Amino acid sequence: MSEIPIPEDFQSWAKGRLGKESSKFLSHLDESPIRGMLVNPRKDLEVEGLEKVAWNPLGCYVPEGHKFSTDPLWHAGTYYSMDASCMFLGHVYNEIFQDDNSRPKRVLDLCAAPGGKSLVLSSVMRENELLVSNEISKLRAATLKENLLKWGAAHNYILRQKPEQFQRMPGFYDLVVVDAPCSGEGMFRKRPKSREQWSSDKVKMNADRQKAILKSAVVCLQKDGHLVYCTCTFNDQENIEIVQWLCKEYGMNSVEIKTEKAWNIEERKEGNCVGYQFWPHKVKGEGFFIAVLKHGNGEQIDHDRYRSRRKIKPYPKKHYLRIKRFFNLPEGYALHEKDTKAITCCHEELMDDIMALNGLYRPSYYGVEIGMMNKDIFLPLHALALNAVVTSRQRKVELSYAEALQYLRRETLDLDYDRPGWVQASYQDISLGWMKVLIRKINNHYPINWRLKK
Ligand SMILES: C[S@@+](CC[C@H](N)C(=O)[O-])C[C@H]1O[C@@H](n2cnc3c(N)ncnc32)[C@H](O)[C@@H]1O
Repeated sequence: MSEIPIPEDFQSWAKGRLGKESSKFLSHLDESPIRGMLVNPRKDLEVEGLEKVAWNPLGCYVPEGHKFSTDPLWHAGTYYSMDASCMFLGHVYNEIFQDDNSRPKRVLDLCAAPGGKSLVLSSVMRENELLVSNEISKLRAATLKENLLKWGAAHNYILRQKPEQFQRMPGFYDLVVVDAPCSGEGMFRKRPKSREQWSSDKVKMNADRQKAILKSAVVCLQKDGHLVYCTCTFNDQENIEIVQWLCKEYGMNSVEIKTEKAWNIEERKEGNCVGYQFWPHKVKGEGFFIAVLKHGNGEQIDHDRYRSRRKIKPYPKKHYLRIKRFFNLPEGYALHEKDTKAITCCHEELMDDIMALNGLYRPSYYGVEIGMMNKDIFLPLHALALNAVVTSRQRKVELSYAEALQYLRRETLDLDYDRPGWVQASYQDISLGWMKVLIRKINNHYPINWRLKK
């Protein structure tokens, strides 16, 4: 039980909203948080014996006492620590697009860091579908990039823009997810400090901020495109009232999502508007709200409008022949060189969209940056060791648990390995990153900013 009390105004609100149930709800906020993990479908992780999350087949509950930071498999992106309630987004995505076999989708995760929702989306999206993940904060954007690179997909495009910048591409996206900055009442259990930061004024401030963000989200949605709005809070001002505002202001339609009774998720209805509320005393997860809206009144945009006339020059064949022994290039993927000189691999079907985006923004990352040429020598980049689509052909060196932690701390490893060259440091056959074997030593190339500090 936390020593920080739950704010009194919030307790009164809970009594009004939940009646007799409120005491059960409030006492649950003092229990230990329930920890979940999203398993990466692109990497092989055995999760037998773990309890499954009911609404997402990739979700499991984490065993008591499990420590993520000292598990090399977590650093390798085989799974991500995440609240089970948030994984409902995967179910929502499948429900929205289940009967839709039209062209591949373009998805924007507008408030994306540290990346949980992007990972859920990436895990249900196909490789020829574009996932743009955006984060306004510089510090948080770095964590977003790290998490996406570790997850190892190849369809990501990462940006650090203000929401209004997305109005420059009206009608571009099929789905926009706004996991909005909110008053965080759903964090009272997981992060008791958030209780001190809460006030009813902050609820109002957050509702206003959310409207400003959503204004841009609506513009970049195509006609009949979908908006997913979610928060980790319970109050109506930020949740169902925002859904009502979207319907009134933009003529959007609230969409029902199929749920099973046994999941115990509250269907929150106000008139024609609906949202899904996760209460910690009812579901095995933290507080979460999610709503889906369809933008029937959106501008009809011809998709060719975003077809760029400028083409990215493919990587020259004669250079490709020199480096092809380093990686497996899957069918349908092509290489090009960025201005930064990073040799990058992208799905060919995404190239038009990438060109269109590049014409307006400076991305922090896209595709899979596999390496760089230094004079005539190929230097592999870290993403290649972690990617699950464009994979490395370099040898793997299996590390023990203790050696894997040494590697992740970027310490020097004393391994008996005598064949010089680039090798993948691996743990349980999953690659963690690069090492370079020299004549009498092994250089640890784990990215300095990602290193394990404890
Ligand atoms: C709830 S968090 C997103 C969590 C993330 N979607 C995930 O699943 O890991 C909200 C994010 O919105 C960002 N944010 C804060 N103010 C913003 C604003 N005015 N416009 C856009 N994003 C904002 C925050 O930096 C934060 O990363």
